[in-house]
Amino acid sequence: MKNQPLNDQEIELLLSAPTSGAIEAVRALEGDFMVLGVGGKMGTSVAAMLRRALDAAGKKSTRVLGVSRFSRPEAKTALTELGVEPISCDLADPEQVARLPQVANVEYLAGQKFGTDSAPDETWIQNTVVPSLVARKLRASRIVVFSTGCVYPFTPIDGPGAHETTPVAFLGEYASTCVGRERVFTHYSRKHGTKQLMFRLNYSVELRYGVLVDIGQRVLAGAPVDITMGVFNLIWQGDACARAIQCLQHVESPPKILNVTGAEKITLRETAERFGKIFGRAPVLTGSPADAAWHSDASESIRLFGPTTKSLDEMIVMVAEHLRAGGRLLGKPTHFETRDGKY
Ligand SMILES: NC(=O)c1ccc[n+]([C@@H]2O[C@H](COP(=O)([O-])OP(=O)(O)OC[C@H]3O[C@@H](n4cnc5c(N)ncnc54)[C@H](OP(=O)(O)O)[C@@H]3O)[C@@H](O)[C@H]2O)c1
Repeated sequence: MKNQPLNDQEIELLLSAPTSGAIEAVRALEGDFMVLGVGGKMGTSVAAMLRRALDAAGKKSTRVLGVSRFSRPEAKTALTELGVEPISCDLADPEQVARLPQVANVEYLAGQKFGTDSAPDETWIQNTVVPSLVARKLRASRIVVFSTGCVYPFTPIDGPGAHETTPVAFLGEYASTCVGRERVFTHYSRKHGTKQLMFRLNYSVELRYGVLVDIGQRVLAGAPVDITMGVFNLIWQGDACARAIQCLQHVESPPKILNVTGAEKITLRETAERFGKIFGRAPVLTGSPADAAWHSDASESIRLFGPTTKSLDEMIVMVAEHLRAGGRLLGKPTHFETRDGKY
């Protein structure tokens, strides 16, 4: 008999369980909190964890605001039920940005990745013009700016991965706009003294999307898994959110840069084989690992915040169970195999 898969509400509760580190951070931080781009894949988890961490810290009157266009209107209802106050706002519209409240602690998650190749002009607006509007409006806030490991060049797969001091590359249109997002925020941090942190995240994983879902789905269906990318890193979404909250205590001007992902360098082959063992079918592998890939050295974030709470094997087992039970998926593949920067 199949196990019942977790539903969306249960998954959000799992992802937003506050860690002791997140609770201590919000206890120490003064002022309200605002999550920009709350309607996407990670926004609800960050905002809900903030709410739960504040409640656990006895700060029930501190507000958590969630800003998005809410192109998925159901995200608004889910946030309200979780105690987050939604604000509809198109951050690309200067007049709407001007009406946003001044809030002390800001998580910036807005951005565009997919569709970049078909509408590059839109991606540049979303990833570079929006940051300029937000950075000027919220110059008095602490801001954690979600960025990506894609700002780095590929580094050798037998090495530790890109370090925070590795110079950025401009590997394709999307990655270039992500460098642009960092550059624009950094400019205003220097100009106004705004304290920021560039949160260079590599692959957040949960039960409904992420690299593990992409690989597991293919193995379960007997579809090929392209292992040319060779290695990658990932982090449980709950850990990524907790670190993003803790990072509000590490903002600096000019901005601090931090790689955020798990400690393990993960090989695509071994991951596919692990899913194969669970599903009782050999994975169909295509390609062969290249010499270099997008992967990051997360030792500084692990030094600051300690180890992550979920091991790779725990995450694989949870994702495999969700897939096998026919759990709901977001239908948003990560395109982890893309090596030409085209999304
Ligand atoms: N998920 C990952 O594994 C991962 C890995 C590396 C980096 N990151 C970075 O982390 C951030 C958050 O990730 P995510 O996966 O949650 O991204 P996401 O699913 O793309 O969510 C971002 C959300 O921002 C909102 N947004 C975009 N433009 C906006 C605008 N003009 N005004 C208001 N809201 C706007 C959109 O929601 P509405 O349609 O409701 O406005 C969108 O869903 C992204 O910037 C991404 O670059 C994520």
